[in-house]
Amino acid sequence: MATWSNFNLQNSASPLMEQIIFFHDHTLIILIMITILVGYLMINLFFNKYINRFLLDGQMIELIWTIIPTITLIFIALPSLRLLYLLDELNNPLITLKSIGHQWYWSYEYSDFNDVSFDSYMINYNKSNINNFRLLDVDNRIILPMNNQIRIMVTATDVIHSWTIPSLGVKIDANPGRLNQTNLFINRPGIFFGQCSEICGANHSFMPIMIESISIKN
Ligand code: CUA
Repeated sequence: MATWSNFNLQNSASPLMEQIIFFHDHTLIILIMITILVGYLMINLFFNKYINRFLLDGQMIELIWTIIPTITLIFIALPSLRLLYLLDELNNPLITLKSIGHQWYWSYEYSDFNDVSFDSYMINYNKSNINNFRLLDVDNRIILPMNNQIRIMVTATDVIHSWTIPSLGVKIDANPGRLNQTNLFINRPGIFFGQCSEICGANHSFMPIMIESISIKN
């Protein structure tokens, strides 16, 4: 989970999030190189005293500064597309979790079992329950098996919400009248936190998501 002064992405708990972090770092390195190059050129402009009365065009330099950015963009676009399709791929999920967004809480259904459904409200944080995570703890956690493909179905009943868990690389909108699908693979036990990340209303920040990842035997 995110803690104070956490500047980077959260540690990944799923293979897809690991890939997202790799792509982020890859893109950031390219971005830094571009920024340094452009910054250097802009600083140079201040000290430029060369004047050439007969300069009309420079075909070669224009060719270079057109083609090099094109190639650079391809180096970002191809890994980006690869990641996009990887995130969408579902391979034989073991279990399905349906999460429904409401103003302002989530409710869940385990569709594989008969009539397993519950609401998940944020727990109030006060002096009597000081061990809770403020604005993140819920009364009923989602419990999911680790090291298994999990299908997530997401929808909403009133306005648009977004079911988002940074450490698992999941962010999918919950729309009324639509059923969105994504997938999850948790590679370690623990508790993973998320929040709604669509501006759904005044108490938008009070609909946290809490996943308890346990071994399949338990
Ligand atoms: Cu639900 Cu923001």
